[in-house]
Amino acid sequence: MKYNFDEIIDRKSTFAEKHAKLKELYGSSELIPLWVADMDFKVAQPIIDAMKDRIENGIFGYTMRPDSYFDDVCEFQKKRKNWNIDKKLMSSCLGVMPSICMIIQKLTNPGDKVIIQTPVYRPFFNAVKQASRELLESPLKEVDGRYYMNYEDLEEKAKQGAKYLILCSPHNPVGRVWSFDELKKLGDICLKYGIKVISDEIHSDLILWGNKHTPFASISEQLREITISCISATKTFNLAGLQSSIVIFPNEELKHQFDQMWDKLHVEGNNCMSIAAIQAAFRHGEEWLEQLLKYIEENVNFVKNYFDKYIPKIKVERPEGTYLMWLDCRQLGLNGGQLTRFMTSKAGVAMSSGTYFGSNGEGFMRMNVACPRAILEKALEQIRIAVSEL
Ligand SMILES: Cc1ncc(COP(=O)(O)O)c(C=O)c1O
Repeated sequence: MKYNFDEIIDRKSTFAEKHAKLKELYGSSELIPLWVADMDFKVAQPIIDAMKDRIENGIFGYTMRPDSYFDDVCEFQKKRKNWNIDKKLMSSCLGVMPSICMIIQKLTNPGDKVIIQTPVYRPFFNAVKQASRELLESPLKEVDGRYYMNYEDLEEKAKQGAKYLILCSPHNPVGRVWSFDELKKLGDICLKYGIKVISDEIHSDLILWGNKHTPFASISEQLREITISCISATKTFNLAGLQSSIVIFPNEELKHQFDQMWDKLHVEGNNCMSIAAIQAAFRHGEEWLEQLLKYIEENVNFVKNYFDKYIPKIKVERPEGTYLMWLDCRQLGLNGGQLTRFMTSKAGVAMSSGTYFGSNGEGFMRMNVACPRAILEKALEQIRIAVSEL
């Protein structure tokens, strides 16, 4: 069926975080919210149908994830990424961030050094710091708006005794889909210095322009043995409110330790609606996903062309993956706080401040373009007028 991604759907009435927290975080609830990384699109019809069927059953008691759930995950990964996953090494969890936090807290030791590549998704910082592990920030290199891993710096950090690296692949917020060669080179450093990798691949189905995502654990058997991969259907199919994800371990011992931790907390994570929704997504969601990716590509082109033509002081490159655009606003001459205030109070648009992703995000803003184009048109027009009056 043909999906209509132009449809504007009310999200305020469903307490969507991007609306509900506007006043608290940005000072007004009337801003155009282009910050939280979820999509303003209705999900694939087979997901809605499966959830309706599940509701019709009428009983929502304690539930288990069937074996077929994990088969569906494996099949989807095999089909879209040619990645063979051993079902026995897979655990279900409440989300990618809860998984990463639990891995850091329970599978590393206090004081262990953990590398992240900045600018990067803010909760990575907190996951490390709140567990009293030491954060080692390896800044990405920016060349003409495109970001690259900084291997010299990574090796330097490795020599400082790093034990873990949290990889963001594809990378939020800069939109890079790391190539096989880039990941392999990173992997070589990790193997040389005995660094284990937590590979956050939550955006790995949101790949644009025919780019190719390489699962880090699929590069070689050696890398598989040092990698814990975190994936999820929730980002891909816009189901974040159902709180569910998958973790893939290199061996049964680590999986067992992880599972035991959740057991002790009495967290099953088997929300019955998420089972129905995610199985339907993996089995029947690809038609929607393909149309979604086309629509996001068109939105990206629309936004890029608009900035180039009407707001050239703000530079923007097309992301290779994700639905997030990284706006270089440095020419406006505003610092992080001033830039956010300018975008909210003068342009009426709420975006994530670049400094949220690390100090090298100063002067940047992250814009979520997974919304109907009419909303982007309005936001861009408001930004254009505000910049012209600056
Ligand atoms: C890189 C990255 N990891 C994790 C998450 C959060 O995932 P979850 O909602 O499954 O905890 C996000 C959400 O934006 C993200 O961008």
